[in-house]
Amino acid sequence: MSGNNNQMSKLLELEGLDFSLSDQPCDYFDQDFGKIVEYKKAQQVVVANNVKVAEQKSPVIKIANDVVKSDNDNKIEVKKVNSTFDAISSLAKRNIFKNPNKKFMSIDEIVSQAKEKAQAANSLEELKRAVEEFEGCSLKKMATNTVFCDGNPDSKVMVIGEAPGNHEDLQGIPFCGDSGKLLDAMFGSINMKRADDYYITNVLFWRPPGNRRPTDEELVMCRPFVERHIQLVDPKIIILVGATAMSAVLNMKDPVTKVRGEVIEHQFDFMERKVDNFVVFHPSYLMRQSAKKRIAWRDFLKLEQILKG
Ligand code: URA
Repeated sequence: MSGNNNQMSKLLELEGLDFSLSDQPCDYFDQDFGKIVEYKKAQQVVVANNVKVAEQKSPVIKIANDVVKSDNDNKIEVKKVNSTFDAISSLAKRNIFKNPNKKFMSIDEIVSQAKEKAQAANSLEELKRAVEEFEGCSLKKMATNTVFCDGNPDSKVMVIGEAPGNHEDLQGIPFCGDSGKLLDAMFGSINMKRADDYYITNVLFWRPPGNRRPTDEELVMCRPFVERHIQLVDPKIIILVGATAMSAVLNMKDPVTKVRGEVIEHQFDFMERKVDNFVVFHPSYLMRQSAKKRIAWRDFLKLEQILKG
């Protein structure tokens, strides 16, 4: 890499640019994507998703799909494994001196800002505005729209998915692409219509580039809004669509295959009463694994009985 290493790390710091810039399609379900896989005392500040991941000391930081190295002379060498580096590099050329005074925020600061804004919202409208105005998550810089909700806010069935994809990003509506059509058909099989019978949102409000899996940091930043969202909707049951939504909301790491189709009663620390949760396969997964649709259908029949009861 050329001699502009300091500029590069400066840029990452100033712009909150991150390793999520990959424009390559990636394995949506790869648990390691975007995670820090190795972290030893760092020499320079390196920022991933607005989060300072390393600072002034270290030989090696490895992030899945990217390797960032710094040597003992304080030089940072970024070895790119996919197109992330090219993306950062071209943005660097455009932006490096654009906003030198921009303040760097730690993840804790971002999360407490999110909490403050979320708690100040006293209606779904106010919460939507707070999410739209929130600048803490760098995904927003690359998104076309903030994707907040769809369906009936008065329904006591709250459906929570993972993150917007391409169609959702373009239209600003959750689950409006192919997986959304399948999800609507799944609910349709038990006579539930989105406009009347359920309310739908995601654990992330902006599209991760290339539809990659959201990082833990992105989920943590958005969580205060998700919690407030649940408080304001006050659902009787939450339908968690796929593994990411399940782990982000219930903090459970079990495979969906193990926990799907059962009521999971959960005491959130931000709710006064326990809330029922029901995990279903993500429609994108079902589009790839159509043999599993049979199980998903049975889960929906069970859900129908639960909702009647
Ligand atoms: N997948 C999701 O999890 N959410 C959407 O809104 C679209 C696709």
